Amino acid sequence: MSDSSARLDTLANSAERHLQELTEWLRIPSISSDSSRHEQVAEAADWLVKKFTSAGLKVELIPTEGHPMVLAETPEVKNAPVVLVYGHYDVQPVEPLDEWISPPFEPTVRDGNLYARGATDDKGQVLTHVHSVCDWLSSGQPLPLQIKFLIEGEEEVGSENLERMLPQMRDRLACDCVVISDSGQYSDGQPAITYGLRGIATYELRVDGPNQDLHSGSFGGAVMNPAIGLCHMLSSMVDQNGRIKIPGYYDNVRELAPNERDQWNQLPQDDQQFASAIGVDELFGEQGYTTDERRWARPTFDINGLTSGHQGEGVKTIVPATASAKISFRLVPDQDPNHLTEQLKEHLQAHAPPGIRWSITADHGAPGMLADTESRFMAAARNAIEKAFGVAPVLIREGGSIPIVTRFQDVLKCDCLLLGWGLSDDNAHSPNEKFRVQDFHRGIQASAVLWDEIGQLS
Ligand code: BES
Ligand code: MN
Ligand code: MN
Repeated sequence: MSDSSARLDTLANSAERHLQELTEWLRIPSISSDSSRHEQVAEAADWLVKKFTSAGLKVELIPTEGHPMVLAETPEVKNAPVVLVYGHYDVQPVEPLDEWISPPFEPTVRDGNLYARGATDDKGQVLTHVHSVCDWLSSGQPLPLQIKFLIEGEEEVGSENLERMLPQMRDRLACDCVVISDSGQYSDGQPAITYGLRGIATYELRVDGPNQDLHSGSFGGAVMNPAIGLCHMLSSMVDQNGRIKIPGYYDNVRELAPNERDQWNQLPQDDQQFASAIGVDELFGEQGYTTDERRWARPTFDINGLTSGHQGEGVKTIVPATASAKISFRLVPDQDPNHLTEQLKEHLQAHAPPGIRWSITADHGAPGMLADTESRFMAAARNAIEKAFGVAPVLIREGGSIPIVTRFQDVLKCDCLLLGWGLSDDNAHSPNEKFRVQDFHRGIQASAVLWDEIGQLS
């Protein structure tokens, strides 16, 4: 038996422990955006430090102005590639709690899926690489390459501290390729390598009117209602077809390459099934593009949250004093989030109704990314995935954002592999997040084969 198939057998024999350890990690409620969870976020980092330490990696907990990062590395290997595995141990908030079938931080297996916040995004996916590397080292065999891990606690809040610290960490993070498992397969049974992600720009728009809520009988009609003003401003940004109306918004948008459109058209796409899986009668979006094109390679505008006036039981007839909206744009190469902020302010200035004051605060911004599909690491990943999943991966882009990824490309000058083991119905950011147990184990196997394949590139 070859070393590599013996290794896969050993990994398979440890499947139960692998899942058990993931369950332990998922119990820690590391919600990065929730200031009352500060200690638990740190606890999740400590859990990982212990895991790496017990497998003999050199590990360091790096404090930031926010949540800490975990940096770990295996021994150097002369003349072999260096891979940096990046991921995040922080998770999204869990509301609405009453929609969870089992509580978000009590990991539960049902129908072959492990349910918990963070199961697929991203603790479960991170752990596929952690297990493959820790078990390799525990077997006493040397790895054929050097692997570094950078697992941070602020991805879900925009990775701003990591972005700031990246230049000074350049030498320690030096690598030939970043490997990230924080995305998905194309569909059940069809694994994928993701070579592009959209960027993002998020804002909060606030509209202020009278100095307090007013009786809408006595004052309605005499003042601008801030909630209505906000609606006017929001609807000025997008037309009925989903086309964004901010002047200049599409100026730098990189069009899809004809061969990309051809390749994507060969993927099995079923709009009706896509619509019914998410409970809508029909899909919606910019004319002239397929659903995958719109999700992966076209920029968008979304309202993520809308707040004003009376939201409690019954009727309360008021003109609210304020209204606010959390909004976001998904960006594609070569749009610049900072430039968008300027365009957005100008546009809102032109569309703000009289009688209100408005302000906007910019939150996270990150550009879209594209990876080199011809890199030697892509070929290695294709082989690894085919061996572990029994099916060759397709090349796709995805619509989500990993804010730090273009910074890695720019600062570390490395290649990039996005290898997602999740499924589109894993409910990331939603109630009942899950990770299919089988995909967790196949991810561990694919990871182990990947180290073999990349080692052979030496
Ligand atoms: N894992 C996701 C990114 C992702 C989503 C990649 C879907 C591929 C497909 C990541 O954890 C995430 O949620 N990122 C945020 C970033 C934001 C909070 C700055 C996102 O995309 O909204
Ligand atoms: Mn993620
Ligand atoms: Mn996420």
